[in-house]
Amino acid sequence: MGMNDGHPANARPTPDVLVVGGGVVGLSIALACRQRGSTVLVLDRPNPGMAASRAAAGMLSPLAEASEEGPFLEAGLDSLGRYPAWIANLEEMTGLSTGFNMRGKVKVAQTESGRARLRALADRMSARQLPFSWLTPAEVVPLVGTPIETPHPALFLERDYFLDPRRLMAVLDVAADRLGVERLVGSGWPMQSLVEAEGRVVGIRCEDGTFLSAPRVVLAAGAWTSALLPLRFTGRPIPTIRPVLGQAIHLDTPGLGLRTAVESEEVYLVPRGPHRILAGATLEDRGFAIVHTDEARTQLRDRATQLVPAARGATVSEHWSGLRPGTRDALPVIGTMPSIEGLTLASGHFRNGLLLAPWTGAAVARLIVGGEGPEIPASFHPIRPLSLDSGGHPDAP
Ligand code: GLY
Repeated sequence: MGMNDGHPANARPTPDVLVVGGGVVGLSIALACRQRGSTVLVLDRPNPGMAASRAAAGMLSPLAEASEEGPFLEAGLDSLGRYPAWIANLEEMTGLSTGFNMRGKVKVAQTESGRARLRALADRMSARQLPFSWLTPAEVVPLVGTPIETPHPALFLERDYFLDPRRLMAVLDVAADRLGVERLVGSGWPMQSLVEAEGRVVGIRCEDGTFLSAPRVVLAAGAWTSALLPLRFTGRPIPTIRPVLGQAIHLDTPGLGLRTAVESEEVYLVPRGPHRILAGATLEDRGFAIVHTDEARTQLRDRATQLVPAARGATVSEHWSGLRPGTRDALPVIGTMPSIEGLTLASGHFRNGLLLAPWTGAAVARLIVGGEGPEIPASFHPIRPLSLDSGGHPDAP
């Protein structure tokens, strides 16, 4: 059980399900399948989840993320509804905390167009009878814990949660061990290619040449998923999952801690303990380069301190970046491939891997091993109309 960095893998029992990718989506699927009685093997490179899950801010914020009604918002709200029980189960199983918090989010608008978007969001929430309120600057203070600099009334989203992704990943790690989810993590283990015979998956070949047999393979490899899936396996083009870099910083703010998350058009701030605020994030197209730039660091710091004047003078104690798995239509790619039996994709969650993890785990487990779980909307399926907004080349990265 547990992490294993030693090759070779000969005489390894064939798992019912092999999950490629040990980020939050891969582990959520692995745990859900294991809890339904399947044997599960998870594979990842060293430091799993470093690309997106551990780099994330941890906002669980379906309404702030979805710009319109539709299946993405429905899945997000469903997943948010699953969160309290999902976290309670993980924390009970491990005795560890994820920093899960249900205190809500304050959305502010710095511009007229931002203000119009907030109003439209409030209208959508009214229509759904979701709780919100408009706040004057004075009303913001007790909720957030400090004044916020904004020319317009702020919108308080009551049903909006956050957690600490690094702590969640540590908790998932321990939970996987407790449940007996086997993991092969480290150099050489990353998947090189799928192995199929007569139209069905029989396993995968690792980078070091090791063959791992499995009747079902789930690709949950975040920004790398497309690279693992050449056309000969899909039979036809499917949405390209491309890396979208995000840089974020920790601001150390002695004597100042936020109570809720705060988000403007330019920056979001998430509490990280009594004296620390996370400020994020950039959205950059730099291929697979995971870089930090002085420009982003300064910009994030300036935007954060403009929003929270009491944070002026705060020091940047950490600066990191990750790669979100983005798609051109901004929808995840989840479903079994008709072209090859036993192959399921679960990726493309872009800014919402943390939010959608409980939903995706239950949905994919239902799909491949049975039991309760949400149905996956057709618009998330890998086989779907591709957007043609890239010079006529369907879904070019
Ligand atoms: N979930 C926020 C981001 O990806 O920046």
